[in-house]
Amino acid sequence: MSNVNRQWILRSRPKGMLAAGDLQLTEAPVPSPTDGQALAKVKYLSIDPTMRVWMAVDSYLPAVAIGEVMRAIGFAEVVESHHKGYKKGDKVIGLMSLQDYVILDGAEKRGLQKVPPVPFVSDTAFLGVLGGNGLTAYFGMMEIGKPQKGETLVVSAAAGATGSIAGQIGKIHGCRVVGIAGTDEKCKWITEDLGFDAAINYKHPDWKEKLAAATPKGIDINFENVGGEIMQEVLNRMNLFGRVVLCGLISGYTKGDPGLVSLGLILVKRLKVQGFIVLDFASRFMEAATQLGKWKMFGKLKDRETIVEGLEKAPDAINMLFTGGNIGKMIVKT
Ligand SMILES: NC(=O)c1ccc[n+]([C@@H]2O[C@H](COP(=O)([O-])OP(=O)(O)OC[C@H]3O[C@@H](n4cnc5c(N)ncnc54)[C@H](OP(=O)(O)O)[C@@H]3O)[C@@H](O)[C@H]2O)c1
Repeated sequence: MSNVNRQWILRSRPKGMLAAGDLQLTEAPVPSPTDGQALAKVKYLSIDPTMRVWMAVDSYLPAVAIGEVMRAIGFAEVVESHHKGYKKGDKVIGLMSLQDYVILDGAEKRGLQKVPPVPFVSDTAFLGVLGGNGLTAYFGMMEIGKPQKGETLVVSAAAGATGSIAGQIGKIHGCRVVGIAGTDEKCKWITEDLGFDAAINYKHPDWKEKLAAATPKGIDINFENVGGEIMQEVLNRMNLFGRVVLCGLISGYTKGDPGLVSLGLILVKRLKVQGFIVLDFASRFMEAATQLGKWKMFGKLKDRETIVEGLEKAPDAINMLFTGGNIGKMIVKT
């Protein structure tokens, strides 16, 4: 075991994409757990668009303070324990930070959870399809989208961690599912491997015509991850009384601007638009994870990961979310 704990400290609030110096890699001694504490080695870090928001402003969580280790969701394994709730080898997920080691103490207060051993499920699945992204897709679709057989669902950032699962949940419920993504490779993956009915590359100049052709009966449900021009075009094609699952607005995160859409359209089309944060459903995570696990086991849900090796690459991995460098779940292996 190393005696160095590498930590990414937030030094300045980024403007645009993360720049060198916004985060600084420092080294501290590995903390020693005292009575009532356990020490866990962080093995994997979930790289999420919301981290860019946490660096900049107060939102559903307070902004990370300047000088603090950058917040991140992680997967860690206990290496030493003086805590009656943990033994060496226990695996834990939850809110951690961009560093090699974490101390667990009264961990339940920070939303940390022990991961049960589940055969044939990788550790990283608990950060993606069975973790925050799968849960987000599940609650967004089931509680707000409420998919019905024969309806048309359009998902943006459709080849990402959340969108790829949301679209497959739409297929499970008998929808026609159209994904919007930023490369032909992503479009091929979601149609050929995940079973989406159509995929639109929004970087092609004729993408709006292609979206119209792929949604001949209009759009009943929009699972929205991007906002701005993409969301506006989807709203243009929504049917009366359609539902918009407002999950994220990634096109605005590096601009500090959510990207306005037409409120007039929402009124005239009588759309139901609901934002949500997955934490709203914390008391039902087990129910959702069980369902997602069953779908995965029976081959109805497929997932993919982009794993970047090395804690030192964490800032690059965060930026990749905003350049479309990931397919499926973005993870850093420390
Ligand atoms: N409400 C909640 O509780 C909750 C929880 C988790 C995530 N979210 C939100 O869900 C969305 C997806 O998050 P994720 O973790 O699953 O990330 P992700 O989709 O795996 O990765 C982000 C993807 O967004 C696309 N993107 C980035 N900038 C874009 C732009 N300007 N225009 C269009 N597409 C762009 C990129 O794909 P392309 O190559 O296709 O451009 C990129 O791969 C985010 O908005 C996030 O904030 C919300």
